[in-house]
Amino acid sequence: MSVPTRPTHHCAALDLEHAGSGVVLMGWVERIRDLGGLLFLDLRDYRGVTQIVVRPGSGPAAVAKRLGAWWVVAVEGVVLAREAETVNPTIDTGRIEVEAQRIHILSEARTPPFPPTDSEGVAEELRLRYRYLDLRNPRLQRNLRIRGRLAAEIRGHLDDHGFLEVETPFLTRSTPEGARDYLVPSRVHRGRFYALPQSPQLFKQLLMIGGTDRYYQIVRCFRDEDLRADRQPEFTQVDVEMSFADPEQVIEVTEGLFQRALGAVGIEVTPPFPRFTYRQAMDRYGVDRPDLRYGAEIRDLTELARGTGHPLLDRVLEAGGSVRGIAAPGCAGFSRKRLDGLQAAAVEAGAGGLLWAAFRDGEVRSPLLKTLGADRLRTLLEAAGGGPSDLLLMVAGEARTACEALGALRRQLAASEGWTSPDQFAMAWVTEFPLFDHSEAEGRLTSVHHPFTSPHPEDVDRLATDPLSVRSLAYDVIANGHELGGGSIRIHNRAMQQRVFEALEIPPAEAAERFGFFLEALEYGTPPHGGIALGFDRIAMLASGSASLRDVIAFPKTTSATDLMTGSPAGVDSSQLDEVGVALAKGRTEADDD
Ligand code: AMO
Repeated sequence: MSVPTRPTHHCAALDLEHAGSGVVLMGWVERIRDLGGLLFLDLRDYRGVTQIVVRPGSGPAAVAKRLGAWWVVAVEGVVLAREAETVNPTIDTGRIEVEAQRIHILSEARTPPFPPTDSEGVAEELRLRYRYLDLRNPRLQRNLRIRGRLAAEIRGHLDDHGFLEVETPFLTRSTPEGARDYLVPSRVHRGRFYALPQSPQLFKQLLMIGGTDRYYQIVRCFRDEDLRADRQPEFTQVDVEMSFADPEQVIEVTEGLFQRALGAVGIEVTPPFPRFTYRQAMDRYGVDRPDLRYGAEIRDLTELARGTGHPLLDRVLEAGGSVRGIAAPGCAGFSRKRLDGLQAAAVEAGAGGLLWAAFRDGEVRSPLLKTLGADRLRTLLEAAGGGPSDLLLMVAGEARTACEALGALRRQLAASEGWTSPDQFAMAWVTEFPLFDHSEAEGRLTSVHHPFTSPHPEDVDRLATDPLSVRSLAYDVIANGHELGGGSIRIHNRAMQQRVFEALEIPPAEAAERFGFFLEALEYGTPPHGGIALGFDRIAMLASGSASLRDVIAFPKTTSATDLMTGSPAGVDSSQLDEVGVALAKGRTEADDD
């Protein structure tokens, strides 16, 4: 009896029109039900499940009795329409079943440490250790399919717009994107190291100098930084660069890309996306990547809060501070405990405290009632855009801090009150980021994006005198409170690049050592250029409605940057270390701790 080598159909393909046909299916035995005489097998493959029925005393019955869960089999059989009462509307193939004529065992299987297709509640560590089993889960299969589809559509869009996919090196020099580098020691050049790219930033700019006027790459980037649900140490960017371009062109190409790629997986976004300057985003939402799926915008209540006789408000306003507020819809019934929780969150986010007033059934409840009076509180609520049954939250203090604290409350309330649904997709641009930020830790300026970002032409004069007031030609694209991508128009002449390095206090000798090759290239006729890089994993995460990047990466790392399946990072033989000229410092390695 010859064993078939391929199926005639996949396990989600068969329906009533196949009734009576002979078929070959291959897949895993997901479930076996023994109804005394009749045996039912759920046969699963990459696409779905088909019910196999094995009649008692038939040829395959003996084989079927030996089968265990997740064994791999080939089933030869005939498609039968199910009786009306046994139709299963929850699966694609629920109107038919296949009566087995022969069953061939292709692979036996150990009992898996968890049921791959029913793993809810199983610890994530265990699922990551056996990732290949978890990947059989239809949810992860669906996510990978969405990811693959997005990549194909993105390539299609960029190809249609004249972009060329070019690969850039992984073994290279450091590219500063604000994280630490992953280093790779060289065997041939002992004591020297490559750095894995944090992004292809310099290479894509060099491609513009090299005459490729529209470049893209779906490319892995490596950053050694603190991880969270939306950060992985290696992640994928859709990296784009174009010559002779202004921000409008980059924005237009990117909006079209999102419209096409998301459209292909059933999510409609319609260009042009709303735009906010960085200033507007910070003022209205207290964050540079606001979630626009809900309101509760921050309002400036400073003028209405003057002259109340409230000691704190008067003191803050006399000192030049301001009062900002939000109206939290439907939250007037919050208990004292919840209000204390909000207060603690506001303080945690930098505010001195939190002022509140709750409006319900025509009544006002507030510690401010005595000093401010119900009418003034109602005026403040209205100015914050609120109404009956809303909760007014106010922070008095320095404007930026007040906005950031209210921004944090806005996000916390959205999560606890369920103001969002993952099906909504609210995209926007944030433009005119500041060029620099002040780093407390380093005691100097740092780049908000990266040091190759062009200053805003209107602000260039202040580069040396008032650098923190200089805006950049940088833009971020955001969705649902996530930064999905960032880009800019670049500096394309050496003198300007030098001025920015000076503002960053990078001494000329250090600039020459780290970026000499690039500074030199800028002198050989550099077209003005600009671009963007999109976080592809984040796009896939939002598009699939997942909560973590781990759900859209086939083999992800944990938040401590380990791969539990392969057990990396791992120690290496001392001979390997010798070869690359590396010695481990005693007492400073995990191996020493063990
Ligand atoms: P940036 O550093 O903003 O810009 O990165 C671009 C986008 O990549 C995503 N991203 C990440 N995704 C997952 N895990 C991470 N650790 C991670 N870090 C970043 C984000 C982010 O918006 N060279 C510039 C782009 C340019 O100027 O063209 C750059 O890399 O979604």
